Amino acid sequence: PSLEKEFLPMYFGWFLSKRSSEILRKAGQAFLDELGSLKAFKKEILSATEDPKIKIDLTSYFVKRPPGVLHCTTKYTEFGKAAGAEEYAQQEAVKSSYGKGFTLSISALFITTKTVGARIELSEQQLLLWPGDADKILPTDNLPRGSRAHITLGCANGVEAVQTGLDLLEFVKLEKVGNKGEQVGEIGGGKLLYFDNGMWMLVLSKKIDVRAIFSGYYG
Ligand code: 2AM
Repeated sequence: PSLEKEFLPMYFGWFLSKRSSEILRKAGQAFLDELGSLKAFKKEILSATEDPKIKIDLTSYFVKRPPGVLHCTTKYTEFGKAAGAEEYAQQEAVKSSYGKGFTLSISALFITTKTVGARIELSEQQLLLWPGDADKILPTDNLPRGSRAHITLGCANGVEAVQTGLDLLEFVKLEKVGNKGEQVGEIGGGKLLYFDNGMWMLVLSKKIDVRAIFSGYYG
């Protein structure tokens, strides 16, 4: 081992500009506010004895919110300890994209009982920075590349951020077996789908483009 060995970040990813972070945070907030007062949503989560007129405060449910600018993790390298960390960092695409600007396309917002996040549709070029091993919950899962691409907007008490990507993969697994969700109405930015088990997805009628820099986070 040489002293010059590169020190790898905690994770690589796209880091949104301050302005884009604010826009996306606001969209996420509007989604939670609208959902919390939507009849169909309250019907699912309130018990018969609860007043159906109350507004459900989802903002205080998803208490753990990322501080500062938002990001989309590409590879969690754990300072070089994670499997495939070195290989990822040494890829030509990763090296040549480091510090460069990208526009990410947000196609949907989703919530589960554990997390709230934004779904990202990666372009062919952006997929070059996507690790080969990320789109699985189980080793046997075979989902399209980039299925997990997301931005964590919030987590419930006691839930770690890594959960948001796993939750998004659950939606993708349902879609893969033909479950398109039940359309429960139109709210703010698009059509709202319910997938059971507390899984809701707002498919945006107009995608949100966010500006981001590909870089590493060192903690
Ligand atoms: P996130 O990408 O879903 O937000 C620091 O913890 C960041 O790395 C968080 O943004 C987190 O989740 C992500 N992260 C943590 N552990 C991870 C893991 N095992 N795999 C992938 N991403 C992880």
